[in-house]
Amino acid sequence: VRMLQDEVGLPLLEQIGKRIYLTDVGGDLLAVCTDWLETWARFEQQVADRKGLKQGRLRIAVVTTSEYFMPRLLGPFCARYPGVDVSMEVVNRDRLLERLSRNEDDLYVMGVPPEDWEIHSEPLIENPLVVVGPASHPLAGRRQIPFAELGGEVFLLREQGSGTRIAVERLFRERGTPLRVKMELGSNEAIKQAVAGGLGLAILSRSALTASGGGGELAELNVRGFPIRRHWYLVRPKGKQLSVVAQTFLGFLQDHIGLLEPYA
Ligand code: PGA
Repeated sequence: VRMLQDEVGLPLLEQIGKRIYLTDVGGDLLAVCTDWLETWARFEQQVADRKGLKQGRLRIAVVTTSEYFMPRLLGPFCARYPGVDVSMEVVNRDRLLERLSRNEDDLYVMGVPPEDWEIHSEPLIENPLVVVGPASHPLAGRRQIPFAELGGEVFLLREQGSGTRIAVERLFRERGTPLRVKMELGSNEAIKQAVAGGLGLAILSRSALTASGGGGELAELNVRGFPIRRHWYLVRPKGKQLSVVAQTFLGFLQDHIGLLEPYA
C-alpha cells in the first residue's frame, strides 16, 4: 500500500479511531482497478473464444425465485464442461435489472422482463402463480373459491423490487379486489414459514413450493382462475455478442430443459 501511495502521491487510506477508510483518491483507484480486472477478464474470454475453447467464465444472474431450479443445471453443465467457471448471482428483480442495465452478466433469468427495454427474451419453462395457505385454513378444503373472497384475507408480500410482488399487486388491481397486506418479508422461504405459522395467505410462484414442498404444513388453495399461467424468461441485452461459453450454456439449456420442468 505504501508503494502504491508513493506512486500516486496522495494518501489512499485514512484511519479514524480503529477503522480504516478509503480516501476519495483511494476510492477512485479501487474503481480503476475493478474496471481493469473486468477488461482483463473480457480479454481473456475473447482469447479463449478465438481459440474456440469451451472454457472461461460464465456469468448468470437469476431472480430469487428461480434459485429453486436454475442451480439444478449447474452440476451436469460443469461436469460436461470442467473448464468453465460459473458464477450465478441470485438477486431480486430490481437488482437484476440494475445488473442487466450495466451489462454485467452473460444471461439473465426472470419472471417479468421489463417492457420497452432493448432486450431479447425467450420463455424457458412455466412459472404458475398459486395461492398458498396453512393446511389448517378453512379455505384449504374448499373448491372453486371466488377470487373476491381473497379480499377478506390478509396476505404476506415479498419486498419492494420483487417480481412476484409486482405480479400479485397487478393481479389484485386488475380484479378490483383490495389487497390487505399483513407483512412484507424478504424471501420466499420466510413467507412460507410465516404462512405455515398462520400469519396469512400468500401468492407465490409454484417453483417455490415444488422444490422443497411445504412439509405438509402448506396447502395450495383452489381459487377460481388459478394457477395463473406465466413463464420464466431467459433474457439478454439485444445485440449482445455472446461468448462461446455463453452460447454453449444456451445450447445445453435447450437440450436439458427437461431437468427444469419438474420445478414448474
Ligand atoms: P422475484 O422474481 O424472485 O424478484 O420475486 C420472481 C419473478 O420475476 O417472477
